[in-house]
Amino acid sequence: MAIQQVGVIGAGTMGNGIAHVFARCGFKVAICDVEQRFLDRGLATIAKNLDREVAKNKITADDKLSTLGRITAVVDREKLAECDLVIEAATEKFEIKAEIFRQLDRLMKAKPEVILASNTSSISITRIGALTGRPDKVIGMHFFNPVPVMKLVEVIRGLATSQATFETVRELALKLEKTPVEVNDAPGFVSNRVLMPLLNEAMYAVMEGVATAEAVDEVFKLGMAHPMGPLTLADFIGLDVCLDIMRVLQDGLGDPKYRPCPLLIRMVDAGWLGRKSGRGFYTYS
Ligand code: CAA
Repeated sequence: MAIQQVGVIGAGTMGNGIAHVFARCGFKVAICDVEQRFLDRGLATIAKNLDREVAKNKITADDKLSTLGRITAVVDREKLAECDLVIEAATEKFEIKAEIFRQLDRLMKAKPEVILASNTSSISITRIGALTGRPDKVIGMHFFNPVPVMKLVEVIRGLATSQATFETVRELALKLEKTPVEVNDAPGFVSNRVLMPLLNEAMYAVMEGVATAEAVDEVFKLGMAHPMGPLTLADFIGLDVCLDIMRVLQDGLGDPKYRPCPLLIRMVDAGWLGRKSGRGFYTYS
């Protein structure tokens, strides 16, 4: 099926990045969030990130304007009814995603062909699909931050996801100039099953006084050629998101090795969520 119009739920870091790449690649995009101010902030971020691409001669100033012209911001989810595919990029909480998928499935009742994708970083696609009347059309499309830059899309098949849905989404990722990698549904998929325990272990090293956050990050930048050290990366992702994912791994896999670092829990309790709150393992102005 030809996808022309895409809905994105959530105008936060991931949602605005996803809307950015779809619109830049010629798709019409309706971006939806619960309040106009979140949409305004998301659109401002898209404009700023398009400016970076103009400055680097990756796109022209005209491309920037036509990209922005393809994006409509809506508060009312019913306005997504025209879309051929909707990607949910809301908060990483099962109850929030469940409510969204149930509503989308109802809204699209007359269009059973519409694909409902989730950008979840760890929640079961099979479980989300089972909430809808179209589990064969539910799939994971997991982008990476910063979305305009990172090449990977983890494409996650739920137990009931059909081959046709998988192929449509894989082709769509290629049209976005991304590289799709097929992964089956399991807690954290591949990316976060492997990445989050690394970040969590780096936090234990800081908590136990093995080294400072700066020293841990230097080890990974200089010794393993990571572009960001694990604690800088955790701040970049958001410490609340890291904690939510560790809990999904712990609950879903049941192995004590996935226990979230107590320092991570304390920092999230304190509202130190990383870059977005101005304080995490580092401070940001
Ligand atoms: N939009 C558009 N372009 C952007 C951008 C954005 N938001 N952010 C950076 N860029 C561009 C810059 O313009 C620059 O372009 P050129 O290569 O053409 O010069 C390029 O990206 C590199 O940016 P900078 O020079 O400003 O900075 P950098 O070299 O330090 O790179 C980085 C920044 C790309 C973020 C790099 O540090 C990096 O790759 N970090 C690791 C990011 C990572 O691991 N992301 C995955 C997180 S996990 C996740 O997202 C999923 C999950 O489930 C938790």
